[in-house]
Amino acid sequence: MKHLSIALIPGDGIGPEVVAEGVKILRTIEELDPELSFSFTEFPWGCEYYLKQGKMMDADGIDQLQNFDAIYLGAVGYPGVPDHISLRDLLIKIRRSFDQYVNLRPVSLLDPSFTPLKDKSDKDIDMLVIRENSEGEYAGAGEWLYKGRPEEVVLQTGIFSRKGTERIIRYAYEEAHRSNRTLTSISKGNALNYSMVFWDEVFEEVGKEYPDVETYSYLVDAASLYFVSDPERFEVVVTSNLFGDIVTDIGAGITGGLGLAAGANINPEMKYPSMFEPVHGSAPDIAGKGLANPIAAIWSVSQMMDFFGEEKWGKAVLDTIKGLTVEKENLTPDLGGKATTNEIGDRISEKLQKLI
Ligand code: NAD
Ligand code: IPM
Ligand code: MN
Repeated sequence: MKHLSIALIPGDGIGPEVVAEGVKILRTIEELDPELSFSFTEFPWGCEYYLKQGKMMDADGIDQLQNFDAIYLGAVGYPGVPDHISLRDLLIKIRRSFDQYVNLRPVSLLDPSFTPLKDKSDKDIDMLVIRENSEGEYAGAGEWLYKGRPEEVVLQTGIFSRKGTERIIRYAYEEAHRSNRTLTSISKGNALNYSMVFWDEVFEEVGKEYPDVETYSYLVDAASLYFVSDPERFEVVVTSNLFGDIVTDIGAGITGGLGLAAGANINPEMKYPSMFEPVHGSAPDIAGKGLANPIAAIWSVSQMMDFFGEEKWGKAVLDTIKGLTVEKENLTPDLGGKATTNEIGDRISEKLQKLI
């Protein structure tokens, strides 16, 4: 019997709505598999908590999370609390404290009708973006000098360490090698004359250890065009923290929207808990109305299962999602349907029971 203790941070806006559906799916898996059990501990952290307590999480919040096997998070950030406070003090704090340096974001087309691109099939849009998730442009280093004065200067320093850059690039080469796919690095060495020149050098150096992996290297502006004009160029993609953030929203755009974009923040050494969360945010424009698409969050459950070696369940959840989305009545409004968040969760749960 394998037991996984899971910390739930539903967070803000549609976060709690989609997390509830992901938990529904985890409970279904638990019912169907006598060898698996999950326990859930919910943390009330987020913007409401901040408005009452003056902090996004408890002072010892990271210690409280430390001994869980996994963290399952909805979304953080809501009007009323400055975004740089809510996100840096909760979401980014967890990613960095637990050295979740690998952010795995699949960009795969579930159904040809979901892409706004012409004549693209699931064969054309099927990639895995591996985003550096612990440093780079998100290092939080900088200075605000002479605030409010005419000589005001603001510095936001990217930090690209040898260790941090090598490990993400090596992880990506391993993944490309293991799955026999091409590897594309996205960078910007023509303008960012320290960070991205270094990135490109490391990409080449580490590549010498993987002569079998076919590689490409694109500047981020051109890569953004290719995501839209010919996404079939990409299989495994590795990129920095900020560029990974941006290109994965483009990835969401070409696969049907943020309601379908899943993510896993991984500490591969399993020294600390990894965190599973959809790519989207709290979506204040649709929060509390049952309109949110829970598929991204449920797909993150599939990633959680894969990470813990339960690939059978990872695949079953993903296959169920794929099977579900071919029927128009099983879509939320973002995909042109009328189903509610809760109904989608119920249907995935039912279909999962039939599949097994
Ligand atoms: P967002 O992802 O919340 O929403 C962007 C658009 O996508 C909105 O129109 C929204 O309705 C739609 N959308 C998002 N998720 C959806 C879903 N599951 N189903 C259907 N439609 C969905 O991005 P935003 O509006 O730029 O940000 C809102 C807040 O969320 C901000 O505070 C931002 O900082 C935060 N944010 C948090 C995370 C996170 O916690 N991981 C990620 C992105 C943004
Ligand atoms: C994401 C989000 C976060 C990021 C924000 C909310 C800090 O956009 O997970 O993609 O930039 O990493
Ligand atoms: Mn983002």
